[in-house]
Amino acid sequence: MFRGCRERGEPNRGASVRLQAPGFSGLAQPFSIATRHVKGVWLVRFLIAGNWKMNGSRPMLVELDRIAEAARTAPSVDVAIAPPFTLLADAAPRAGAVMLGGQDCHPAAQGAHTGAISAGMLVEMGARFVICGHSERRAEFGESDSLIQAKAAAAQAVGLIACVCVGEDEPERDAGQAIMVVAAELDGSVPPASTGANLVISYEPAWAIGTGRTPTCAEISEMHGMIRAKLIQLLGEEGAKVRILYGGSVTPDNAGSILACAEVNGALIGGASLTADKFGAIIRVAAEIAR
Ligand code: PGA
Repeated sequence: MFRGCRERGEPNRGASVRLQAPGFSGLAQPFSIATRHVKGVWLVRFLIAGNWKMNGSRPMLVELDRIAEAARTAPSVDVAIAPPFTLLADAAPRAGAVMLGGQDCHPAAQGAHTGAISAGMLVEMGARFVICGHSERRAEFGESDSLIQAKAAAAQAVGLIACVCVGEDEPERDAGQAIMVVAAELDGSVPPASTGANLVISYEPAWAIGTGRTPTCAEISEMHGMIRAKLIQLLGEEGAKVRILYGGSVTPDNAGSILACAEVNGALIGGASLTADKFGAIIRVAAEIAR
């Protein structure tokens, strides 16, 4: 049932659909129907996703307990957390309505790839999505668009949602190349068989990550509008259903104005996802807009 939904190009009002129960059965469980077609418009639920990066050990799962409680009281919003791989098994029984994910996966199903984790291994640990091509992996580990595309396709093949990250760096933004850079990243890193159910795009300008700086609403909407057009070009009708998140210095204070920007379907959050106080506040902001 939809209580309040946003129409494309209109200010966000979010949408509400019940979550499916989490579980594991070989392939990743579908999380929820992200979109519905009503009166010629695709309606999209907010996805509020946290990326714990290389932070946290077992005691931090207390924060997950509290995030799960915040998610339980905000059923109109999809909530996700990508903890370090090492916490997934312990996190799974405590996640409740929170979708768990990995922060990376290898494109191969198994083999001699020391230190790597396959998408299937993530599924076995209870993951439902995986972040592919975060700018820290592109910069620190030299990941290319084609590698990211292969990782995302491997994830989708085992039923995971691939959350593919794209975004320009500061010199590219200053040179007026941001749109061109992100369009090229999408061309290179979106698997051709993607659907609205197995792909999420996160626009994360590298200069906004962990810096406290964010683009203006106009800049975010311009970029998300281009991403939407590109997804439709690449994927046809399915491209209209893919959720497009914004990431980079999202906090409880700015979440409301960012989520209200046109074509923003949620947020991918680093620093502010590490505590339930901040992440729970962002979930509540999203739920308020979705009402
Ligand atoms: P931040 O990170 O929220 O700490 O800026 C965002 C991200 O890297 O996804």
